[in-house]
Amino acid sequence: MTDIDQLNRDLADQSPRAIIKAALARYDNIAISFSGAEDVALIELAHKMTDNLQVFTLDTGRLHPETYEFIDKVSRHYGIKIEVLFPDAGEVEALVTKKGLFSFYEDGHSECCGIRKVNPLRRKLATVDAWITGQRHDQSPDTRNDVPVVQRDQAFSTDTRTLVKFNPLANWSSKEVWDYIRMTEAPFNSLHEKGFVSIGCQPCTRPILPGQHEREGRWWWEEATKKECGLHAGNVIAHD
Ligand code: ADX
Ligand code: SF4
Repeated sequence: MTDIDQLNRDLADQSPRAIIKAALARYDNIAISFSGAEDVALIELAHKMTDNLQVFTLDTGRLHPETYEFIDKVSRHYGIKIEVLFPDAGEVEALVTKKGLFSFYEDGHSECCGIRKVNPLRRKLATVDAWITGQRHDQSPDTRNDVPVVQRDQAFSTDTRTLVKFNPLANWSSKEVWDYIRMTEAPFNSLHEKGFVSIGCQPCTRPILPGQHEREGRWWWEEATKKECGLHAGNVIAHD
């Protein structure tokens, strides 16, 4: 058993706070990946544990105005810097020139997500030893049911380099995240007041109706098992 498997066993039943504490104690060069939605809970939990909190977000160029406002609000609320990562301009221009601005409705989201999210993420992850995400089991029964609290990143580790991925909220339900956000009076994205639950890019996110699962508001024109954009590609590989 690897060191990381052992750590996962040790932390599997621990609280999100204890998992983040262990992650920050073990890795100096570690960053939170913040999507501009309910994963603000990670920042609320972590910001008091270190003076050197690294937080980044992937600006695809296609986020809602409310999400941009929220990212700025979070930065001010916690007095932290949020690093904003942009896609390569040449890659975006080539895609849009060739296929237009909405090619994902025609031939799937993976090409656009690859350029706008995954490539900038890969660039960032090459500079850290570990990262922290807000993935949870209940976000997607099709792809996230087995997400461990800590794992060797299946998508971004290489033969010569292990990247560690912490998912401290894995065992929390949506309700627990929201109870925590309310209890701590953490700021939240105003789209949540308009029926949005899971929030991504504007053209690929929609509000859901009562009784729908939150993932039905993302890439709704695609099959459930394909609803990973490459950030968490290991989840899908694990289910092949
Ligand atoms: S996605 O892969 O379908 O887009 P989701 O919205 O469920 O991901 O979010 C899961 C976690 O992925 C977030 O808590 C966050 O850690 C990371 N993430 C998703 N989108 C972004 C983004 N634009 N910038 C940074 N991190 C993100
Ligand atoms: Fe492109 Fe949609 Fe992926 Fe955003 S979620 S990067 S707009 S395909």
